[in-house]
Amino acid sequence: CGIVGVVGKPAREVVLNGLKNLEYRGYDSAGIYLNDLQGHEFLTKAVGRISNLEEKMTPDEQGTTGIGHTRWATHGHPTEANAHPHYSADGRFYLVHNGVIENYADLKEKYLKGVHFNSETDTEVVVQLVGKFADEEGLSGYDAFKKVLKLVKGSYAFLLVDNTKPDHIYLAKNKSPMMLGLGDGFNIIASDAISVLDQTKTFIALNDGDHADVTKDSIEIEDVDGNKVERESHELDIDPNAASKGTYEFYMLKEIDEQPAVMRRLSTEYLDENGEPVVDDKIVDAVAKADRIYIFAAGTSYHAGLVGQQIFEKFAGIPTEVGYASEAGYHFPMMSKHPFFIFLTQSGETADSRVVLTEANKRHIPSLTMTNVEGSTLSREADYTMLLKAGPEIAVASTKAYTAQVALQAILAKAVGEKLGKQEAKDWNLKHGLSIAAEGIQEIVDGKEAIEKLAKKYLIPSRNAFYIGRGIDHAVSLEGALKLKEVSYIQTEGFAAAELKHGTISLIEDGTPVIALINDPVTADLTRGNIQEVASRGANVITIVGKQFAKEGDTIVLPEIDYYLSALVSVVPAQLLAYYASKDKGLDVDKPRNLAKSVTVE
Ligand code: G6P
Repeated sequence: CGIVGVVGKPAREVVLNGLKNLEYRGYDSAGIYLNDLQGHEFLTKAVGRISNLEEKMTPDEQGTTGIGHTRWATHGHPTEANAHPHYSADGRFYLVHNGVIENYADLKEKYLKGVHFNSETDTEVVVQLVGKFADEEGLSGYDAFKKVLKLVKGSYAFLLVDNTKPDHIYLAKNKSPMMLGLGDGFNIIASDAISVLDQTKTFIALNDGDHADVTKDSIEIEDVDGNKVERESHELDIDPNAASKGTYEFYMLKEIDEQPAVMRRLSTEYLDENGEPVVDDKIVDAVAKADRIYIFAAGTSYHAGLVGQQIFEKFAGIPTEVGYASEAGYHFPMMSKHPFFIFLTQSGETADSRVVLTEANKRHIPSLTMTNVEGSTLSREADYTMLLKAGPEIAVASTKAYTAQVALQAILAKAVGEKLGKQEAKDWNLKHGLSIAAEGIQEIVDGKEAIEKLAKKYLIPSRNAFYIGRGIDHAVSLEGALKLKEVSYIQTEGFAAAELKHGTISLIEDGTPVIALINDPVTADLTRGNIQEVASRGANVITIVGKQFAKEGDTIVLPEIDYYLSALVSVVPAQLLAYYASKDKGLDVDKPRNLAKSVTVE
């Protein structure tokens, strides 16, 4: 699920490097098409890593027009034949695609009966159709492409090369991310600007429905109705080094270690010296007017929302609901009179979340996106944006974006609560809380060897594991379980501590690891009881406990921290347990199998 294309420059290195920079997003095969404008063209595809692709390419495979793709399989297995670029039957058109063509089967049935297909993909239908229209109706390549765009339904970022006009790349975008990078004597197109930052920092963000004809020194963009349009370019202010691994073996550990710095950055950027929130008044006013907050997200961001829910209700005094974006998009929840939507999304590109936002915009529901990526789709399309400022997160398993989301929700909740005159909000010393959290996280990451030992002793030998907790500890249990299973492949479930006894306790056997979180003053003693229940059935219990609740025999004792900020600290041992369980099993921590960093399909 990454695309890179370039015209007007030796393309092989640019495309391959760009694809490598996108590797962190997860993919299972890759491919590249190059044209040297002298009548030579090259197409290479490989299953697995970009390095496999490179190994297959001969030194003479060069060109000044190139398109490349990493594929995360949706339609058809991850095979070489299904890898992009795909081509038309006459070998004239080459196409790469991110997204999903929903009506591909209908199009195939209606227009392409009897045509031989080389792959099982939805994408090939598109390039075969372009070939057919160009051939049978004598249309130019670009006109044939535009005709096809009118027929396809779904999400796409397309790059197309017509080998009778190989100094052009034609592109089109709908619901899948695509950025046009401007160079001196060349132009570049990518699904993610970060992949080509070494080539340019000036980008045009395209709108849905836009399509364009790009050469090395010209760009002609048309909107969905075919009108010529100008789209503004802007400079991206990202430090390319922020995305480098430095001395770390894996990004995941680097990103876990960065969390104290992220906490301090958020505190400086969003709180003044007196600890008062510095949040755009318009955002605070809009949330304060709401009678209900709805948080939508996916994966780890959803878990951050579950923590946010408790914080908003406590400090802003506004009832708050959290939903999976993928569910709400198609079963829109019943709304209160004055809803306000918050989208939590590290990447700002998750298709499931975008479906809900599009629906919200249709209904004129005010919305805010909290995201780590400036200029991302959900940020552009929501009414308001607050940036997580966590720095690029590269490991597929999210860590610092989660803690940043929790902290940023706390800042907004305090701002809104103060606006509404809530005493709890005024009294909440968040500046102090975030600084304690930063110190607490530091203490845990400094003691990571002890956590590695626990992972080796209890988790690695086990087939399954459980996280349990109540209140915010329950929300963190879900995140802890997700972290562990996604990177170590140990089947793990997070549970509300007391629920285990209502069924799942039947899975506890001798040696089953149960990781229990205790940071909630209201339920600390009750959770101790639940620990007894599993321990007496043979579980190996690891406790992660705030100092004020600690007892002899606890495994990981956390510095004392405000219950509402406890997730910031208590999640860190869980992140480290996951990291070491994966690393010490010899797995590729940053790129777990089957996963993608930002999922732009629904
Ligand atoms: C993918 C990633 C998860 C992430 C989720 C939501 O599934 O693998 O790590 O939590 O998407 O991503 P977002 O960018 O919207 O936070």
